[in-house]
Amino acid sequence: MLGALVIGCAQPQPPDAAFTAPTLRGAFEGAFLVGAALNAAQFSDQDTLGAAIVKAQFNSITPENVLKWAAIHPRPGTYDFAAGDRYVAFGERNGMFIVGHNLVWHNQTPRWVFEDSTGTPVNRDTLLARLRDHIRTVVGRYRGRIKGWDVVNEALDDDGTLRRTPWLTILGEDYLATAFRFAHEADPDAELYYNDYALENAPKRRGAVELVRRLEDQGVPITAVGLQNHDRLDWPSPAQEDSTIDAFARLGVRVMITELDVDVLPPARAPGANPFVDRLPDSLQQALARRYAELFASYLRHRGTVTRVTFWGVTDRDSWLNNWPVRGRTNYPLLFGRDGRPKAAFAAVVRTAPAHERRDEGRDD
Ligand code: XIL
Repeated sequence: MLGALVIGCAQPQPPDAAFTAPTLRGAFEGAFLVGAALNAAQFSDQDTLGAAIVKAQFNSITPENVLKWAAIHPRPGTYDFAAGDRYVAFGERNGMFIVGHNLVWHNQTPRWVFEDSTGTPVNRDTLLARLRDHIRTVVGRYRGRIKGWDVVNEALDDDGTLRRTPWLTILGEDYLATAFRFAHEADPDAELYYNDYALENAPKRRGAVELVRRLEDQGVPITAVGLQNHDRLDWPSPAQEDSTIDAFARLGVRVMITELDVDVLPPARAPGANPFVDRLPDSLQQALARRYAELFASYLRHRGTVTRVTFWGVTDRDSWLNNWPVRGRTNYPLLFGRDGRPKAAFAAVVRTAPAHERRDEGRDD
């Protein structure tokens, strides 16, 4: 109750509140890393406000797009490392834990990967050779610098069975183990992750638990499961989040929250599906703050298992949810507003941190 009152009284904050204590990275120090997904404008310092917020608030980064297959390996034999190199250099300059995203996915992967020059699907050996070349080249280039890789992204369907992608159809079920082995060969010290969304739903979670168990039985070096957490105001419940994290903890892997955001808009195709073009009403601003506080309370209950929480974007202006699942809406899913100011949800998140009171005591910076 008190929390809700305090949130309700939060005044609009000046932009410099994004750069002074308390910060996200400071608040959760000792509990978990706090990261953000970056676009090229941010890590190239073109978006100076965005870059400044990243440096002040976060201690881990994930590339939103530039390491995906289509971006870094657009044509056979042609790699384009320019953006990836800038991303990694930005992370090193700023002392960040640098994540790679991702190596194997069904989206943002060019068609040529799965076809020969006549458009016919390639055979298993050809696709295996392409996968090995891709993983060796990309992971090898950033060996020792990118500390953790999303090796396989979104391989499961909602019912928990393996998604029918060209990877599965051409390579068979062991393509996941193979991808992890290639990544481990290319950088034996890198952490390796399986990353997916909606694992909080029971059937998909069961499939993921079985998948991780199979990988472990085969001796595959998997470090953690990434829970994307593209959340809504009413999904998943804290109880679902808790039991999902527990299910993976029991398998002995770590859990990372890898793509956190909270969609506040009505279902995309409903009438009036873009209702907040000018501003988010206060009632929803407060609902978002309470929602973020309950999510972080869940992550904190699992400190030790949850070792990183990464937001999918920095400010509301950057979020992919302005353009997904339909283009051109105005969404408010993150902790920093379009102007770079921390929102009520930022204060609510910081207030969940165990160190919050101690850190702020006697400080006026
Ligand atoms: C999204 C990016 O944010 C967009 O810019 C891009 O157009 C599409 O991909 N799950 C993932 C991410 O694993 O890679 C996706 O990122 C969001 C959903």
